[in-house]
Amino acid sequence: MPKLIPRLPSTNSHLPFGDMQNSPFYGIDIITVKQFDREQLTYIFEVAHEMYEMVSRVGSFDLLKGKILANLFYQPSTRTSSSFTSAMERLGGSVIPINNVSYSSVTKGESLPDTIRTLEAFADVIVLRHPEVGSSALAAKYARKPIINAGDGVGEHPTQALLDLFTIHEELGRVDGITVTMMGDLKYGRTVHSLARLLSLYNVKLNYVAPENLCLPDEIKAEIGTKGIPQDCFADLTPVLPETDVLYVTRVQKEYFEDPAQHESLKGSYVITTETMRQAKSKMVLMHPFPRVWEIDMAVDADPRAAYFRQMEYGLYIRMALLAMVLGKA
Ligand code: NCD
Repeated sequence: MPKLIPRLPSTNSHLPFGDMQNSPFYGIDIITVKQFDREQLTYIFEVAHEMYEMVSRVGSFDLLKGKILANLFYQPSTRTSSSFTSAMERLGGSVIPINNVSYSSVTKGESLPDTIRTLEAFADVIVLRHPEVGSSALAAKYARKPIINAGDGVGEHPTQALLDLFTIHEELGRVDGITVTMMGDLKYGRTVHSLARLLSLYNVKLNYVAPENLCLPDEIKAEIGTKGIPQDCFADLTPVLPETDVLYVTRVQKEYFEDPAQHESLKGSYVITTETMRQAKSKMVLMHPFPRVWEIDMAVDADPRAAYFRQMEYGLYIRMALLAMVLGKA
């Protein structure tokens, strides 16, 4: 069973933590994965790795002591919200949690820009999840403090994609040269929109397994096509499973379906079982951003290739790294 981050040796480049306000990440918004290049990703992963080492050694440390994060969620969240809270608190900072906007002035009709301008009066960085595509970009236009997109409707989920890529990097020891198969609701799943774009910076092959009406949107395929990445759509996992190095499974995003019957009709059609795993590569990495509903049978959890719980923990280190970086401390 791969342990968390077993492959990277302790780097000799112990990154200097401290004030680095000249750092290219200081004060930036994280809105889309399109803003990153490979060199920056390598740097983020190095910082995340340092965070892992520090958490393993001492649990928490005061790099962001006195800093405040506003965690503003207009849509439900378990992992993203709690991992940002954990990340900030492990770095000695604190959090204003607004996980249920129905208790905030949003129910009185307050606009997103006004809510953002209010929170930045109190916080140093704002994490935002909102049901509309482009909401984080809009918030960033008004905010003087960094905005981190934690999901903008069916648009993007950049921090999830960073932790997904970090998971692949740590579990397989490489990203170049692999075949990634994404399966499920690729139309509305924002995590795959971001991850597919991020993977297109590497030398990978992408397979999309989905019912025809839930495949990756054409404009994202076109974007990825311009990078020269081989990509193909399939209605069934069977033909691509044997070549797959990473199988990334997603939930059907029922909240975006206009017709509930259409969602019901998909139930049970794309499910990973122990039988599926028998036909997969012995080193395949099985990932899922979670929540899982019925897409992966719980019997699969015992398989060492099931990386989804480790994936969540990698997310903590990525989010610690991002917070430290945008606040000028890494
Ligand atoms: C995802 C999301 O909210 O987009 N969850 C997450 O952040 N890990 C995936 C989903 O809801 O299916």
